[in-house]
Amino acid sequence: MEKKLRAGIIGATGYVGQRFVTLMADHPWFETTVVAASPRSAGKMYKDAVKGRWKLEAAMPENIGNMTVASTDDLEKWANDVDFVFCAVDMKKDEIKALEERIAKLETPVVSNNSANRWTEDVPVVIPEINHDHMQIIEQQKKRLGTSRGFIAAKPNCSIQSYVPALSPLRHFGIEQISVCTYQAISGAGKTFTDWPEMVNNMIPFIGGEEEKSEKEPLRIWGKAANGKIDLDHETTISAQCYRVAVQEGHTAAVSVKFKNKPSKEEIIKLWKDYEGLPQKAGLPSAPKPFLTYFEEDNRPQPALDVMNGNGMGVTIGRLREDNIFDYKFVCLSHNTLRGAAGGAVLTAELLVHLGYIDHK
Ligand SMILES: NC(=O)c1ccc[n+]([C@@H]2O[C@H](COP(=O)([O-])OP(=O)(O)OC[C@H]3O[C@@H](n4cnc5c(N)ncnc54)[C@H](OP(=O)(O)O)[C@@H]3O)[C@@H](O)[C@H]2O)c1
Repeated sequence: MEKKLRAGIIGATGYVGQRFVTLMADHPWFETTVVAASPRSAGKMYKDAVKGRWKLEAAMPENIGNMTVASTDDLEKWANDVDFVFCAVDMKKDEIKALEERIAKLETPVVSNNSANRWTEDVPVVIPEINHDHMQIIEQQKKRLGTSRGFIAAKPNCSIQSYVPALSPLRHFGIEQISVCTYQAISGAGKTFTDWPEMVNNMIPFIGGEEEKSEKEPLRIWGKAANGKIDLDHETTISAQCYRVAVQEGHTAAVSVKFKNKPSKEEIIKLWKDYEGLPQKAGLPSAPKPFLTYFEEDNRPQPALDVMNGNGMGVTIGRLREDNIFDYKFVCLSHNTLRGAAGGAVLTAELLVHLGYIDHK
């Protein structure tokens, strides 16, 4: 790309926002031109706004540290300084919905990490390797919003991004039932062990709203785009349990699955090894190659060893074996703040550029 696209990061001071800031530092297509956050941070230099709460091992890029944090209150003033925005904020759902629509109506595409618009009928919710064709409903959304280039595209919840990628290549066998238990990292709550010492040596058997999202969002990802909306997948039933565990980064999922037509173990492993989506085929900058990695070792994947597979964008799978109640069971892992949040959003933006939905203003 001759001239980089200008990106704004809304929620830039938060955990996911910090991931965006570091991921964008050397991005070949995008450059960060605006960092925005709440009125608490607005007007401060970025490095001062995050003083004492920089949560990453990677250093803060110097140029971003010296930028002044913008406020979402006056986004009309800076909307022309960006070609699109990433949005990852901790606000009430109705406020996020209003904020994201306001930005889209300023003819500025929004790539959202938030859940607020995931059930808005004409907003695509996409894992780029799996359902890029859902982006077509953006046309209907633009009609509703009265925009020519502004729209909202959302990423799904981080918890589903380990098991939905592993199950997607197997769908033609007819997936009838899934039982999944997720073991989710504390960064999923925007925390480190310093912020949340109660999590050291601990496990909490409840994450508000997470089981519902884990049961329903895959049915949207696996649905069909038609007439400007998504018809949900009605073939599959999912039962989910979600636990917070003493891990800094990486959501693990233990999955049991029942098929209409049971494949062999060898067929499943081959499908995992061969699976490629549009991001791999199109060579998008953040696409991991391979997308899915299967380990033969019984003690893998582990967050400590495998969470950074494919720069935190690859999904790792292991322990495929027969099950006494379902057909098979296995375990899978993905990085919740990279693949499951900022990295997945950057890949989504790359996909939107590739498909012609994001361009220069
Ligand atoms: N952590 C994950 O693994 C993960 C994964 C997927 C999706 N998400 C989603 O991403 C979003 C952010 O999560 P997080 O973990 O990064 O949260 P976080 O660390 O608490 O950061 C929240 C961000 O929102 C900003 N904010 C709060 N009120 C605002 C307002 N009125 N206007 C503008 N900005 C405001 C904060 O700015 P100040 O610093 O100024 O307060 C901060 O930048 C949430 O919707 C979350 O569900 C998180």
